[in-house]
Amino acid sequence: MHPGLKEVIARGRVLARGAESIVVLHEWFGLDAVYKIRLPREYRHPDLDSRLRRNRTRREARTLVRLADAGLPVPTLYEADVEECLVVTEYVPGPSLRDALEEGEAGPEHVEELGRIAASLHGMGIVHNDLTTSNVIVADDGPVLIDLGMSFDSGDPKDHAIDLRVFERCLESSHPSLSDELWRAFLRGYEEEAGEKRTETVLRELERIKSQVRYV
Ligand SMILES: Nc1ncnc2c1ncn2[C@@H]1O[C@H](COP(=O)(O)OP(=O)(O)OP(=O)(O)O)[C@@H](O)[C@H]1O
Ligand SMILES: [Mg+2]
Repeated sequence: MHPGLKEVIARGRVLARGAESIVVLHEWFGLDAVYKIRLPREYRHPDLDSRLRRNRTRREARTLVRLADAGLPVPTLYEADVEECLVVTEYVPGPSLRDALEEGEAGPEHVEELGRIAASLHGMGIVHNDLTTSNVIVADDGPVLIDLGMSFDSGDPKDHAIDLRVFERCLESSHPSLSDELWRAFLRGYEEEAGEKRTETVLRELERIKSQVRYV
């Protein structure tokens, strides 16, 4: 690892240490910034590990730029270094949607907005692929989407249904008492953006995924 990065980790504030990465709050040319560094995983073959980490770094940076270009709410990308598996972005203050829902600081209106954002993403042919309430920050002016390293390009409603499936399951497991109301809010926003026809198609694919999981 580059010595400068070691220093960032040593001097910054660690916000999260996930399965894949360490996320550190530290300044970047005087701006509050988030350094996401994908660290080697010992249990993976070194070549495969390096390829995966680089690919996810590339995906994260590329999708952040595309979404920002389209005017969607994501942190501004400051810097990316594929060799170091590093992505530096704007620091977005605010709780995760998960915590905000638990504390009653966010409600259906935030989830409805997230539904609109997800439909816009799909309209651009992008799948988030890890759409959970932990991967959304509730900022002052609304939800901001993060954690785009698993995202991929697809215009196929079957793939769009993956995001809906992951999100629905997240509501059921993390927010069980609110899950029906929040799911309806999400679909309301989704349909508002995607239209009735596209929403129906994706929901059909969602039902198909669910029945496969049940019977296979
Ligand atoms: N731009 C940001 N501004 C503020 N906080 C952030 C930002 N990016 C990440 N965080 C915080 O760090 C946590 C982890 O970030 P992220 O979800 O991107 O990584 P991860 O879940 O470890 O990712 P991966 O699944 O790719 O390993 C987030 O849940 C959030 O609390
Ligand atoms: Mg995450």
